[in-house]
Amino acid sequence: MQHNEPSLTEGTIDLTKPNVARVYDYLLGGKDHFAVDRAAGDQIRKAMPGVQIGVEEQRAVLRRATRYLVGEAGLRQLLDIGTGLPTVNNVHDVAHSVDPGVRVTYVDNDPIVLSHARALLANDTATVVVGGDLRRPEELLDRAQLMDNLDLREPLGLILCGILHHIPDDDDPWAIVGELVAALPPGSHVFIQHLVDPGGSLSEELRGLGRGRYRHRDEIARFFTGLEMVEPGLVHVTDWRPDPDTPSLDYDPALLFAVAGLARKPA
Ligand SMILES: C[S@@+](CC[C@H](N)C(=O)[O-])C[C@H]1O[C@@H](n2cnc3c(N)ncnc32)[C@H](O)[C@@H]1O
Repeated sequence: MQHNEPSLTEGTIDLTKPNVARVYDYLLGGKDHFAVDRAAGDQIRKAMPGVQIGVEEQRAVLRRATRYLVGEAGLRQLLDIGTGLPTVNNVHDVAHSVDPGVRVTYVDNDPIVLSHARALLANDTATVVVGGDLRRPEELLDRAQLMDNLDLREPLGLILCGILHHIPDDDDPWAIVGELVAALPPGSHVFIQHLVDPGGSLSEELRGLGRGRYRHRDEIARFFTGLEMVEPGLVHVTDWRPDPDTPSLDYDPALLFAVAGLARKPA
């Protein structure tokens, strides 16, 4: 496969360390990664040969959740924090296939993600890209609102897909989510996809994979404190409102490593 060495257009990029967004892109079969990212991705593949289907399904549940947020919950604006490198069927593509008027705000702290997303979205007036760090939620919301695409007086869909497991306990991700949720108006929805510790011998395999913190299900459930869970609750990603072609959970052990849930902020 041909690889693109990502262009260096913004911020500082450390080429000696693997980067979350680029390793994920590599595992998804994308083209934007450096040798150090590919080495980290290969290490993960060696330890868990089914990782490809695992990451594809982590991405697929994001598409189903986006369809739900726009098509069923009827939300007209989405805030996607930890957007990742643009790939096919991004959140704005899925949202606009349901309702072309939906406003999408993407936030990430990775300079390469930001430059790629900005290039891709240069002509898209309903989607904006904002540099921000989830560990500083107040500043992130201030910056996002400056772009005039996000209105915190109207319910919105907050998407935290594949990002919270990169925030260590020491940074108190529960307080961060609590702060974001407090700023949302009632009727807003929150979607979270998170790596989960599957327990048993599979937990051993996780050691050294370096893809973030595999939290216990109860720890992940705590992110939804004060919110009303939408059916089917917090479940493995392939069990969250599956499409007819979604594989069943027993298809590959790699599917046991991530859960997803969506909840509504009550009045
Ligand atoms: C595994 S990717 C997930 C991408 C996409 N949401 C998905 O689920 O396909 C995680 C993304 O979170 C971003 N990220 C990690 N820590 C972050 C932080 N503290 N603030 C903002 N973005 C962060 C990374 O740059 C990366 O793009």
